[in-house]
Amino acid sequence: MVEHISPARALSGAVALPGDKSISHRYGMLASLAEGTSRIRNYSIGADCQSTLACMRALGIAIETGADQTVVVHGNGLDGLSAPADMLDAGNSGSTIRMLSGILAAQPFESGIGGDESLSKRPMQRIMTPLAEMGARIEARDGKYPPLTITGGPLKPIEYKLPVASAQVKSCLLFAGLFASGETAVVEPIRTRDHSEIALREFGAEVSCNRGTIAIQGRPRLKPLELYVPGDLSSAAFFLVASQVVGESDLVIQGVGLNPTRTALLDFMAGMGVQVQVLDVQQTNGELIGNLRVRKSRVRGGLVEGALAAALIDELPALAVLGAASDDGLAVRDAAELRVKETDRIATLAENFARIGVRIETRPDGFAVPGRQRFHAAELDSFGDHRIAMAFAVAALAADGPCTIRDAAAASVSFPGFFDTLRQIAASTAA
Ligand code: S3P
Repeated sequence: MVEHISPARALSGAVALPGDKSISHRYGMLASLAEGTSRIRNYSIGADCQSTLACMRALGIAIETGADQTVVVHGNGLDGLSAPADMLDAGNSGSTIRMLSGILAAQPFESGIGGDESLSKRPMQRIMTPLAEMGARIEARDGKYPPLTITGGPLKPIEYKLPVASAQVKSCLLFAGLFASGETAVVEPIRTRDHSEIALREFGAEVSCNRGTIAIQGRPRLKPLELYVPGDLSSAAFFLVASQVVGESDLVIQGVGLNPTRTALLDFMAGMGVQVQVLDVQQTNGELIGNLRVRKSRVRGGLVEGALAAALIDELPALAVLGAASDDGLAVRDAAELRVKETDRIATLAENFARIGVRIETRPDGFAVPGRQRFHAAELDSFGDHRIAMAFAVAALAADGPCTIRDAAAASVSFPGFFDTLRQIAASTAA
């Protein structure tokens, strides 16, 4: 599918987002292991989170999806999964394959799990090494790529220091730790999103966090819950950036997740000069949620490095676009993880920037985009990556003529309806 984007002169109105992708995956998996029926409202409609539900169904869990993105999960307890008839399909979702592998590693059956072409190129040793240490046997294509064949069994608790900052790996091990007898501990060098820790506690597991060590006590009884998934701040990023690249804007983004391990984006954008107000903050299931109001501002440049690179990893494609439109540009270092996301995002950013007439210098672990650049009409490509599709739709709003985006349907991995939402808030220059 090719999307046509016309330049916009102003953005206004209210934006509602799909449920947070990270939180939806976790709720879908943990509700399946709880003893009874959980109801999850505002579960992400994105393809990735639907892949998680499909996998849990294939493992014998009854799941109903109803109106208003409500998902009802009939959990069967910690020992209630059954062997899948076929290979589990994680689609495009790294979170599904990595986090679910922690659960599969503890099952008394063998399972296979794979996904699409992009997922089949993503590194899995990061979960294979610690899960093997816990006692699971995992085979992978070429020893490191999906599909994985996981021969589960009783797991022993370990203490594991993460070599890469990864919430997916941390969560994989905490989920495996649910099944091990005793305490499983994960040591993180850099703090990553803590949705798993929060969700595990809500479901009734005992989880402690002490100076970067997160420990879980094995074999808890998980209780079913009424849950609400906040809107996805990583999806909000595209609208926050869009509001700064067009001539005028005043947007309200509703019901956004504001977990402090995710809000580096807001602090960073504020540091660049973007006026964002956080309003009406509440708590739901241990997660913060609120509304954002953002207005067109004078935007300076920024530097992302060290721990900040891990904290902003999903928002860097959007921030790269902001950097090009800012006064002083954006430099990113210590973000080699960008190269092993749904695409090599340093390469796909560089390719689309070249097409849209924007200079970018790339390096193995990042890039630099000078500021005060103009976007030109161009034929762009998502390269099958949802965040690249959405970042360049935003850049296209500021272009000097219409742009097209090939394979724009990739956006539906996290945000079906993204292009409609963008059109609803945009007043086109032609109007
Ligand atoms: C996620 C963690 C991040 C992020 C991904 C979702 C999660 O990946 O990029 O989109 O839900 O835990 P890593 O943990 O591999 O950095």
